Amino acid sequence: MLDPCTFVIFGSTGNLSKRKLLPALYHLEAANRLPDEMKIIGFGRRDWGDEQWRDFVKEVLTPQVRDGFNEEIFSRLVHRLHFFQGNLDDKDSFKALSDKIENSEEFPKNVIFYMSIRPAEYTQVIKNLANANLLIEEHGWRRIVVEKPFGYDRESAQMLQQNMMKHLREEQVFRIDHYLGKGTVQNVLVFRFANVMMEPLWNRNYIDHIQITHSETVGIEGRADYFDSAGALRDMIQSHLLQLLTLVAMEPPASMDAESLRDEKVKVLKSIRPIPQNAVHAHAFRAQYASGIIHGEKVPGYLDADGVDEDSVTETYAAIKLYIDNWRWRGVPIYLRTGKRMAESRSAISIRFKHPPQLLFRNTQVERLKPDWLLLGIQPNECVRIEMQVKESGLEMRTRTSSLDASFNKEGDTLYDAYEGLLLDVVENDHSLFLRYDEVEWAWRVVDPVLRMWATERDFIHTYPAGTWGPKETQRLFDHADQFWRHSIEPED
Ligand code: BG6
Repeated sequence: MLDPCTFVIFGSTGNLSKRKLLPALYHLEAANRLPDEMKIIGFGRRDWGDEQWRDFVKEVLTPQVRDGFNEEIFSRLVHRLHFFQGNLDDKDSFKALSDKIENSEEFPKNVIFYMSIRPAEYTQVIKNLANANLLIEEHGWRRIVVEKPFGYDRESAQMLQQNMMKHLREEQVFRIDHYLGKGTVQNVLVFRFANVMMEPLWNRNYIDHIQITHSETVGIEGRADYFDSAGALRDMIQSHLLQLLTLVAMEPPASMDAESLRDEKVKVLKSIRPIPQNAVHAHAFRAQYASGIIHGEKVPGYLDADGVDEDSVTETYAAIKLYIDNWRWRGVPIYLRTGKRMAESRSAISIRFKHPPQLLFRNTQVERLKPDWLLLGIQPNECVRIEMQVKESGLEMRTRTSSLDASFNKEGDTLYDAYEGLLLDVVENDHSLFLRYDEVEWAWRVVDPVLRMWATERDFIHTYPAGTWGPKETQRLFDHADQFWRHSIEPED
């Protein structure tokens, strides 16, 4: 039985709320997973009452929910929806919110505050909540959900943490990284730790290198305000891709409880070799998209997007090479890359195995043995594929690549969005898929040297035409001439 709770959304009419939170709440309602007495308060500046908020939510949900908008489901959701008119920087608004929650039978006293707002506003809002006694757990629990980026670099993350900890305990904080809510990302753990087959191979003796890619065909979608000062390294690599890396590289945890899991993830981050300031160019590459063609249509370059500074050298593409200095991974390069306006939208982990120690087929017509790959597709298709070499049929000794394919999704499987599971985890007080502060801090330590160097290089950035896989110069990151970016998990020639 889930505790009844009040779910307060700061930034209730913003992008994240519209695209992720409200649809997730609707789908949880549809699946009868919301606690019976749960209430949802939209906090916002607009001069609205409950009715306008309910109309807004309906309008937002109608075009995006799965299986078509359902009036019956919405009629259940609608009774939960309330609007609270307030200002984030106004102390009195928080006092009034406190009165509303504390003095009405209607609102459960367990409260989740969801910060769907600019990170720069976190400290002030938490202070205002604390001043209004909204964080005191006298009549029920109080939890805060914060979105990434947690800070702007290591130092600002430390400051933010200190400010938050003046008013909160770590257990009250849920730092969300929605990648951890994706089914296939959790499947990395199941694949590794529920099967014994891969474990003997999962190390420096057999693995040549690892690539983690997230590419998107979309641009910055009206988010210049945030993105132009963040850039792709902060936006994707410091958070989502480093998280993926921890799951791929971690040791088996003592158990699947939140602390054991996060202890192992932190160990990976701590073992990443710091990038020396004078080696940033050998380890990291950045670029920005110029105009180009996406899905057959011409699209403008980054500098022409609304709100982007005309001299901006913010990267929309970032790639980085890392080494993990521990027994399992020492010497195995790990390449992470992300980009907007790329040729395709996909996320995948590609693991390349070494060649066999002896090339037995050297004098035959097998000119060049291809390496084996293990490919974990995260999106759009969730799958595991293992590419191996087999003999082609016929009299000649020729090899070709064949793949063993395991798709995770069977027909009839329920698809769900990462936010649905994560919101339930907050209600259930399960921190396993949320970031502990030390993970965030160590992740900043990994990218900080690169950020510092790039911040000084204001005159030049490589460009790539929208709709491509990025500039060819990015190849320079690879340790060996026979390593290359694996763009697809489909068989490549
Ligand atoms: C967000 C980034 O965290 O993740 C976005 O801020 C990015 O820039 C998005 O587009 C990607 O998430 P998903 O779930 O669409 O792969």
